[in-house]
Amino acid sequence: MTIRVGLLGAGLIAAYHAIQLNLSRDAASTPGSTGVDNTIVAVYDPDRERAAGLAGGQGAEVADRPEDVVAASDAVFVCTWTSEHLGMVRLAAESGVPVFCEKPLSVDLASSRELVEVVHDAGIVNMVGLVMRTSPTMLVLREMVEDPTSGRVMNVVFRDDQYIPTQGMYASTWRSDRALAGSGALLEHSIHDLDLLEWLFGAVDSVAAHQSFFHGIDGIEDSVSSLVKFRSGATGSLASVWHDVLARPSQRRMEVFCERATITLDADDVGPVRRQTSDGEEVVGGHQDLVDWLSARGIPTTSSEDDFLAAVRTSIDGGEAPRLRPDVDDALRAHVMADAIYRSAAADGAPVAIPVDLPR
Ligand SMILES: NC(=O)c1ccc[n+]([C@@H]2O[C@H](COP(=O)([O-])OP(=O)(O)OC[C@H]3O[C@@H](n4cnc5c(N)ncnc54)[C@H](O)[C@@H]3O)[C@@H](O)[C@H]2O)c1
Repeated sequence: MTIRVGLLGAGLIAAYHAIQLNLSRDAASTPGSTGVDNTIVAVYDPDRERAAGLAGGQGAEVADRPEDVVAASDAVFVCTWTSEHLGMVRLAAESGVPVFCEKPLSVDLASSRELVEVVHDAGIVNMVGLVMRTSPTMLVLREMVEDPTSGRVMNVVFRDDQYIPTQGMYASTWRSDRALAGSGALLEHSIHDLDLLEWLFGAVDSVAAHQSFFHGIDGIEDSVSSLVKFRSGATGSLASVWHDVLARPSQRRMEVFCERATITLDADDVGPVRRQTSDGEEVVGGHQDLVDWLSARGIPTTSSEDDFLAAVRTSIDGGEAPRLRPDVDDALRAHVMADAIYRSAAADGAPVAIPVDLPR
């Protein structure tokens, strides 16, 4: 049976998911592929023209209400601007429909917790768009860091910058409205980085931060420096910047200093990732080389959409779907860190402890 997918929101990220869903469907008939048969059946966006543009290319219905999308679908993707995520997830949960929710979960920690409660109470299959975890560069870097010959991680220098996404290919108005976006560069963009920091290097114990508002937009910070203390004893720093260099849509760079290896990521799209030791240097870069390097080590490079659809398939067939990663609990952890960073910045950089365990 073909999985019926609904899209709530028809902007940039919805179009991206539509492409990935189509790739998953097209691959599904190839033996051994991780693709899953699916079809996009309905799209809702209050901007009807946008909804029609996306739905038209997919042969999907343009829905009058989000409820109609939920009713027509086996699973939904929540792709609205951030302030609407909670309401959309609630609609899906009320009908027991699996949900893929875009990051950030919501505009602040309290409403993100509420969203997690809604998902847990409904017990629905869920996944969150913290997609950097599936990036081949990050998977290679993680393997290199975890190589026992690297020794322990001592220090991490992480930089994430892009032009402020109220322009260029993002061209969103909502990212300059704190009621719709929550806040700026840290929550909207570096929530990925906060998730990566614990995924790559283990639990964070405390943070200390400063933030700036160079663009003068109320509540939308455009530069944040965060100092991070890991439970392992390692430390690190994260620089999150929204500038006006239109040639730089999104760039992540990382330097990881381990006891016996230095691992460097030049750019998060295709690398290269380098691992330098006293014995020499290994360099892996370019999409296919990264995928081949991972495949030789038995590490799959499936898309988030493939993983989500496979779990939905299992659930529809009456089986128990595996826990998907990252799910709402993983995302909540990143929100706990973001909230602590904002509280530290408000207290002129005073350290703020991160709770050992998740709030639930
Ligand atoms: N995972 C990622 O890497 C990634 C990348 C970009 C955006 N995002 C996230 O995806 C979300 C959308 O971002 P975007 O870049 O697609 O923005 P966008 O401006 O391109 O699209 C957002 C759309 O949401 C629609 N919308 C608003 N309220 C709605 C509602 N109640 N129901 C249905 N649609 C509604 C708007 O009309 C708009 O078309 C944001 O939360 C953003 O943070 C994630």
